[in-house]
Amino acid sequence: MTGGPRVFVTRPLPAGGTDPLASADGPGPPCEIIQRTEDEPLDKDGLIAVLEDGIDGVVAVLTERFDADVFAAGKGRLRVVANVAVGYDNIDVDAANAAGVVICNTPGIVDDPTADVAFLLILAASRRASEAEAVLRKGEWVGFHMEDFLGRDVHGATLGLVGYGRIARAVARRAEGFNMEVIHHTRRPTGEPGWIGDLHELLGRSDIVSLHVPLNTGSRHLIGRAELAAMKPTAVLVNTARGPVVDEEAVAEALEQGTIFAAGIDVYEREPAVLPRLLAAPRTVLLPHIGTATVARRTAMSQLASASARAVLAGELPENTLNPEATGSHLSRD
Ligand code: GLV
Repeated sequence: MTGGPRVFVTRPLPAGGTDPLASADGPGPPCEIIQRTEDEPLDKDGLIAVLEDGIDGVVAVLTERFDADVFAAGKGRLRVVANVAVGYDNIDVDAANAAGVVICNTPGIVDDPTADVAFLLILAASRRASEAEAVLRKGEWVGFHMEDFLGRDVHGATLGLVGYGRIARAVARRAEGFNMEVIHHTRRPTGEPGWIGDLHELLGRSDIVSLHVPLNTGSRHLIGRAELAAMKPTAVLVNTARGPVVDEEAVAEALEQGTIFAAGIDVYEREPAVLPRLLAAPRTVLLPHIGTATVARRTAMSQLASASARAVLAGELPENTLNPEATGSHLSRD
């Protein structure tokens, strides 16, 4: 018992992840940490029960969902939710604003590991790595054949980035080493070389399409049947953003019918469930949402979220605040 603000941490975090909450160096007094030991998502009723107990801040993982009911359970005491993720589609930010709760995320830290996984999927899906390895592991490899496992060249290919934020740019930097032509689509012009205002035009020109948009009402099922039909039959689709950005059923159908060549996917519409039709579809590389999963990055993300929660509780407004409008006048940027 520290007498400091009470901070609820929804899941176990990597070692050292909550250190900023406990440090004697401030800002403000050390926090009392109430951390769940179960490494499973906490459902809405569970979250409400904890918040009703009197909690000032939450360090949350993207599996916990925060809506108006959950904020109401904070009873005006809850002042901050710091998400250990850059994506924050698990949080209703309008409801947070209405409840006066500050929301922070972990931008920047996630860029390189997520771009690495995007590139891993670009390479693995283009070269059919999972399918080829599965044959070998089953003992079904019968020797070198000139026409087995033929994939698509990555070197020199045209890479179409949908979204052009920090992660997309990190992917573009990697693409330089592969001598790729990089084009990008955003709704508003970026003023940069390679911008294409029409999504379907970008899809039609790309050998590889990699998705880097946040999930919101505008991006839900951004890639559906019509968009898949606009892609080349030789093209590869990569998703390291959020599952619902693509219509998974339509992706499975496109793979079955050969209207796209392959897909590399790290995120799913209904995680942890994966559409059986997608599991069965040909030429896929499917990873279980590991974009940021390195020891260093997950530790740094946890520490940034913890430090952010502590800063808000000490009356500061960190740079990574998503909704400064929620704060009223009691917080200030240093
Ligand atoms: C991971 O998915 C993140 O949003 O950081």
